[in-house]
Amino acid sequence: MVLNMALVGAGGMGMRHATGYVELRKYFDDVRMVAVCDPHLESAEAVAGVIAEGTPEAPRVFGSLADAVESNDVTLDAVDIVTSTPAHHGLAIEAMEAGLDVMVEKPMGLTLTACRLMQRVEAATGRVLSISENFRRDPMNRLARALLDAGAIGQPYFALDFSVGSANRGVMHSTVWRAKKVQAGGVVLDAGVHNADLLLYLMGPAVRVFAETDVNDRERVLRPMSDQAPGLAAMYTHRREGGGEEVGDAVEQDAVDTAFTSIRFESGAAGQMVISDAAHGYGLGESVVVGSEGTLYRPPSRRGIGPRIVRGDGSTVEGDDLLALVPGWELDDVTSALWDGERRMSSYEMDFRQIDAKIIAIEYMDLARSSIGDGSPEVGSDVGMAALALAYGVMESGEAHEAVLIEDVVSGKVRGFQDVIDRAAGIVEC
Ligand SMILES: NC(=O)c1ccc[n+]([C@@H]2O[C@H](COP(=O)([O-])OP(=O)(O)OC[C@H]3O[C@@H](n4cnc5c(N)ncnc54)[C@H](O)[C@@H]3O)[C@@H](O)[C@H]2O)c1
Repeated sequence: MVLNMALVGAGGMGMRHATGYVELRKYFDDVRMVAVCDPHLESAEAVAGVIAEGTPEAPRVFGSLADAVESNDVTLDAVDIVTSTPAHHGLAIEAMEAGLDVMVEKPMGLTLTACRLMQRVEAATGRVLSISENFRRDPMNRLARALLDAGAIGQPYFALDFSVGSANRGVMHSTVWRAKKVQAGGVVLDAGVHNADLLLYLMGPAVRVFAETDVNDRERVLRPMSDQAPGLAAMYTHRREGGGEEVGDAVEQDAVDTAFTSIRFESGAAGQMVISDAAHGYGLGESVVVGSEGTLYRPPSRRGIGPRIVRGDGSTVEGDDLLALVPGWELDDVTSALWDGERRMSSYEMDFRQIDAKIIAIEYMDLARSSIGDGSPEVGSDVGMAALALAYGVMESGEAHEAVLIEDVVSGKVRGFQDVIDRAAGIVEC
């Protein structure tokens, strides 16, 4: 069966999904992108143009998902929601109620309340709900997980995850919504949900967090993406700000930009996660898991650089020697096909844009296979909510100045920070 899809949201990440779709079609025939929807029709045209150029498809352009669903010009089986985060839950629910399967960008929903509403509709309709969490799908993160599972560093004691840098008072990705608390903005939440998912992927479920959080740089400015995130600039040139803001405009940021978090995992291991984009003149990117027999160094995702293990005696295991520690480890058939048939690798050479596209292609195949009943998505609603609960656990703890249990964030028992967001967005749980 071929899945007819609409790409909903044609901003920066929408463009990256279009390039992912073009990559997918070089290898697989399971999906057809027949529509692109965005109220900014020129943005939708630009994204549809990339698909038309790179594949045999010429997607129709619509101003909204509802227009595409009602149109006689396209027939849809599924949607790929890549809008700014505030629209995720409403569109996912609308799509599932219209009988469509859903793939939605991270974070799964605006808040955990929004996620619970999505999950309720998922259960009631029986539709597939898949979260586009990409970092864990990098073959190098698959290898890191396999090494931990094989006991290559013994019993994990603790994980350290530091993403500290300076946005030079720019707004993340030069998108106004990312400056705003009520739109789930800020690097700690918007990027932190990736850090959270990877920590959970490597360390297992989290039980409790305690965090100190701040908004340090409140006065920010919309900088050109070529300054803000040069590697992604080409993907963002076509996008338009909803409020008509222009490069150079001042933006008030009330979204948390700095967090220091202690985590206790169900396994008994501990974790420390530090995220900031307000560290002027300072930068630190480090992700390690320390165990009873050594330390696993995990390089940044989507670079092709493999992990490295250092033992207590100072000896290092790296490169293909790592593969000897995981003799049974292989990439899944979809990832392997996209990496030109490689099944086992300890590094790879590819530029960021191509890696990014290939990982998005994996996400399309995850949805396509789940849609035909061949398994369920790797990052389903429970997994998506666990990552968001860890990221919001940081916010809740930072505001309450006390430790919070992750299960209480998932259930909604702890929700003070998110209540403000739910009220602003009109999200009500019956
Ligand atoms: N997985 C990743 O690595 C990654 C990277 C960047 C962004 N994201 C996620 O992707 C999403 C989009 O981020 P972005 O950087 O592209 O933001 P963006 O602001 O560039 O684009 C958002 C687009 O959504 C459109 N939109 C808003 N409401 C809509 C609606 N109801 N229907 C149709 N279109 C609508 C806007 O007009 C805009 O074009 C966010 O949730 C973000 O967290 C994920």
